[in-house]
Amino acid sequence: MLLNLTILPGDGIGPEVTGQAVLVLQAVAGALGHQLKLQYKNIGGAALAAVEDPLPADTIQACLSSAAVLMGAVGNPAYDHYPNHLRPEAGLLRLRRELGAYANLRPAICFPALEDSSPLRADLVRGTDIMIVRELLGGLYFGEPRSIAGTPGSRIATNTMTYDEPAIERIARVAFDLAMKRRRKVLSVDKANVLECSRLWREVVIRCAKDYPDVKLSHMYVDSAAMSLVQRPKDFDVVLTENMFGDILSDQAGGVVGSLGLLASASIGGAVGLYEPVHGSAPDIAGKGIANPLGAILTVALLLRHSFQLEREAACIENAVGTVLDGGARTADLARSGQNSITTGEMGRKVVEAVESSPAKQKSA
Ligand code: IPM
Ligand code: MG
Repeated sequence: MLLNLTILPGDGIGPEVTGQAVLVLQAVAGALGHQLKLQYKNIGGAALAAVEDPLPADTIQACLSSAAVLMGAVGNPAYDHYPNHLRPEAGLLRLRRELGAYANLRPAICFPALEDSSPLRADLVRGTDIMIVRELLGGLYFGEPRSIAGTPGSRIATNTMTYDEPAIERIARVAFDLAMKRRRKVLSVDKANVLECSRLWREVVIRCAKDYPDVKLSHMYVDSAAMSLVQRPKDFDVVLTENMFGDILSDQAGGVVGSLGLLASASIGGAVGLYEPVHGSAPDIAGKGIANPLGAILTVALLLRHSFQLEREAACIENAVGTVLDGGARTADLARSGQNSITTGEMGRKVVEAVESSPAKQKSA
């Protein structure tokens, strides 16, 4: 198969982790007989530096004309004082909208080898396998009006949370469909005791659930869900939630399974899928070669699975990551005190080696 992709390395650790993810992608493609056509484009701070636009037109065009997009990270403190539409993050938000990527899947899995990397007790995290389904094009991120107005000292800031029924329904269906292939549980997270958006959310989710009689639906307020996520993470299967709550809970889930650096995500539902690790640009460690590339590498697995239905190739990457972790490889974020840590490039190389010696490859040879 020809895999035609746009790669957006972005800012901070984005280029480092994306570089390793592409090496793993090349290894899988080589092993299982696929051709790659990759084009690299700017986004975020990198694009602002080049052309003063966090999402240049040629980046959008490249993304729309490829079969999937792999992104690293956006964000650079140098642009903190810029107006909202000229921040690196604005490039990513616009791209999600341009691509119509309304469904953000964020799996959080506790790898057996990493039970002791979690700040929680091993017996609590063992077996954790959560799929967060985050609505990605609504809520506070995109609601109008939004502004900071008035004169210094008496300024007023406004953001708007809005959801319409079709937007809730389409994301709910993604969650229920996924649940049917998993443990058939959906937890819908809202704040229906306070917010109108959440009351409508709950009503629409309950209505959709009627089409999925085999799925057990439950509801929680976001504050209580945040607590339960650290108390009993393995009870969670599919978590369905709106944009901002999903942003927060997915970082928390990263902490629970050992490191945010492990989490991959798929932003799908539109014309072209956008694949991005959950972590940010981490400017504090950028350029040091110590970032964890596994989130970006596992993101390639999601890309192969969701944009190309290449399940064997996706599983090959996921198994390779498990093998490497079983072998004791740890980047700094995963190493406990006394454990050796390896660099971004060493971790990437180990995954490439595991892919090249995997049974999936031998089967096809
Ligand atoms: C994420 C990030 C983004 C978000 C930022 C970089 C805009 O935190 O993907 O979780 O808030 O969606
Ligand atoms: Mg986030």
